Amino acid sequence: MSAILSQPIDIGERTAPNRIVYQAMEANDADELGRPSDKTFRRYTSFAEGGPGIIFLEAITVSHESRGRMNQLRINPETEESLRELVAAMKETNPEPLILFQITHDGRQSGSFSRVVSVYPADDPAVETLTTDELEAIGDQFAAAAAITRSVGADGIDFKHCHAYLCCEMLRPANRRDDRFGGSFENRTRFFRETLDKIKGAVDDPSFILGCRTSSYEPEPGGCGTAGPDTDREDLAESVAFARLMEESGMHYINISAGRPLSVPTRDAPEAVLHHFRLTEEIKKNVSMPVMGTAYSLLRDGDNKMQEPDPQKKSLRYWAEKNVREEHVDMVGVGRQSFADPLFAKKLLSGADDINYCTLCNGCFKLLYYQKVGGCAVYDDFYRALLKEASKKE
Ligand SMILES: Cc1cc2nc3c(=O)[nH]c(=O)nc-3n(C[C@H](O)[C@H](O)[C@H](O)COP(=O)(O)O)c2cc1C
Ligand code: SF4
Repeated sequence: MSAILSQPIDIGERTAPNRIVYQAMEANDADELGRPSDKTFRRYTSFAEGGPGIIFLEAITVSHESRGRMNQLRINPETEESLRELVAAMKETNPEPLILFQITHDGRQSGSFSRVVSVYPADDPAVETLTTDELEAIGDQFAAAAAITRSVGADGIDFKHCHAYLCCEMLRPANRRDDRFGGSFENRTRFFRETLDKIKGAVDDPSFILGCRTSSYEPEPGGCGTAGPDTDREDLAESVAFARLMEESGMHYINISAGRPLSVPTRDAPEAVLHHFRLTEEIKKNVSMPVMGTAYSLLRDGDNKMQEPDPQKKSLRYWAEKNVREEHVDMVGVGRQSFADPLFAKKLLSGADDINYCTLCNGCFKLLYYQKVGGCAVYDDFYRALLKEASKKE
């Protein structure tokens, strides 16, 4: 039993029943209109049964025109009813976890089967730079998506600002647009401020949870958390300033990540986890709203390559409890571990010893890369067979 991770926590006017977060995990399994399929229902009802404090419903696109996955979930009037059914099925399975929709525009990370667009000019001439009017229209799409999120019974949104997608690109020092959305920090955060105002106008419910997942540091010149447009030297001043801006603007939580889309710590580079912890701690020191952390899957039951002789002192449980106890983070997030064992939260909190730990094989990542339906290719026969087939073809 983990007493510390079992503690509830207030997020705005709502309460998450414990300190475990199932991070957003795309699976490319929607139907041709972007509505959840049977596979989507199966994944999310299993997550609900697993009993984390928060379930982030994966990157749901506000735009079908520009999207990263062929079969990405979509949020618009056409998908509204099916999303309502999905939320109802999750709440019927377990009413306790908070359900937050991660709403996104994939921008430059959109697939070539769709319109690939960016905030500022890309090296690739095929990528179209968005006009000021187009950006404003995308802001309206986010507001409409937030209104639908509330109408279908979800508890709030994650206004996605991480992993190099559109809103993350907007924040970068490398964004030197010459209109009111580029250049100074004031200009680069204008889309966030204006869109948040639109979202609040569209939702008008103080109990509706608002937050963002951010990339505190991107290891590339001009990335988020760098010292300027032409350097990859880490300088978290703007990441901290953005977290403070979120809080001052009335947001209820920040979810910290880093790096590129689908960037995940790999078995051979366990130090990436400590890097995540350090970034999260730095943000946590500067805000009082709840802070969520990322990248705990690698730690497993201590069977990992961290430089620590005692497996107990390098396990997921150890670090999760330590980071919450020492107030370096408020909630701990797992991505791949939720795929590997949807019942993970319930098992960890109760002290059960039958957790299927993620092996870090990245089969789920490869499935997405191949534009296949995503899931755990180790513990689920369906996805294992799919990966085998897809790998043969590639
Ligand atoms: C298959 C797959 C899908 C993902 N989908 C999303 C997503 O929709 N939104 C997001 O913010 N991050 C996404 N991520 C990143 C994860 O949420 C998480 O940050 C990453 O896997 C590292 O955490 P972990 O070590 O616990 O897996 C995805 C990662 C993988 C492997
Ligand atoms: S496919 Fe591999 S990396 Fe992905 S969740 Fe399963 S065990 Fe983990």
